[in-house]
Amino acid sequence: MAGVKGKTVVVTGAGLGIGRATALLFAKRGARVAVTDVKKQEGEETASQILGAGGEAVFISHDVSSEEQWARALSDVADRFGGIDVLVNNAGIYFIAPIGDITLEQWNHLFSINVNGVFLGAKHVAPYLALRGGGSIVNLSSVAGLLGVAGHACYGASKGAVRILTKDLAAELGAQNIRVNSIHPTYVKTAMAEYGAAVAGKTLDELGREMSVLGRMAEPEDVANVIVFLASDESSYLTGAEFVVDGGGGASVLAV
Ligand SMILES: NC(=O)c1ccc[n+]([C@@H]2O[C@H](COP(=O)([O-])OP(=O)(O)OC[C@H]3O[C@@H](n4cnc5c(N)ncnc54)[C@H](O)[C@@H]3O)[C@@H](O)[C@H]2O)c1
Repeated sequence: MAGVKGKTVVVTGAGLGIGRATALLFAKRGARVAVTDVKKQEGEETASQILGAGGEAVFISHDVSSEEQWARALSDVADRFGGIDVLVNNAGIYFIAPIGDITLEQWNHLFSINVNGVFLGAKHVAPYLALRGGGSIVNLSSVAGLLGVAGHACYGASKGAVRILTKDLAAELGAQNIRVNSIHPTYVKTAMAEYGAAVAGKTLDELGREMSVLGRMAEPEDVANVIVFLASDESSYLTGAEFVVDGGGGASVLAV
């Protein structure tokens, strides 16, 4: 089987942003896509765009912080499409605040989605992937999971947890031919980056010019291309690895 044609993929948080772009690209390449999100209208819109273009998709309402909802969502996908080959743990939330202003409730809420969501997804999807003789899990971390950034204690710690969880899972699940990799973007043109730009008092274009040697901010499709590659058979010997998608920002001294 080449690429992702004929594979069944689950993309969490696929109602908007990187998740939507990833779901659309998977479908374009011939995969069957389970679009999951807490936002029903947005998730249904992604699925309907895929169906409208002649692809295969289903929308499943799903909060990644709930173990019970993971079990139900994955069982629904397997019933519908006959199995699962790929999970993209994309759903995530973001906020910027100095450490003294972060409440324990805010910390726990963000971790319940950004970290618990990835743990629960991997735990519940692994048996389905093993039944297929293997598969791929792609976890969305961030450059904030590799480097420190002021105001990012909570978000950065959650993405750092996703980075090492990815490697732990790769080590544990490799014997079942399940590959697990993490992706580390800088700002990508989505609602999340709009919030970051607003906090910095800059436009998205200004931030993009400052943060990348390419002089532009990443589009969701720039990240989706890497995710789809890591889900495909062409990345068959890649596991436990981290893929920085930053337009060269980390490779050079940038004036930010
Ligand atoms: N956009 C960026 O600049 C950027 C940079 C680095 C990493 N990331 C990471 O990429 C991923 C996607 O980011 P994005 O920019 O597309 O975000 P976004 O805010 O545009 O979309 C996130 C999606 O996740 C969904 N979601 C939120 N909480 C959920 C939950 N509990 N259960 C299920 N779905 C939920 C939202 O409804 C939304 O559809 C996130 O994990 C984010 O941390 C984004």
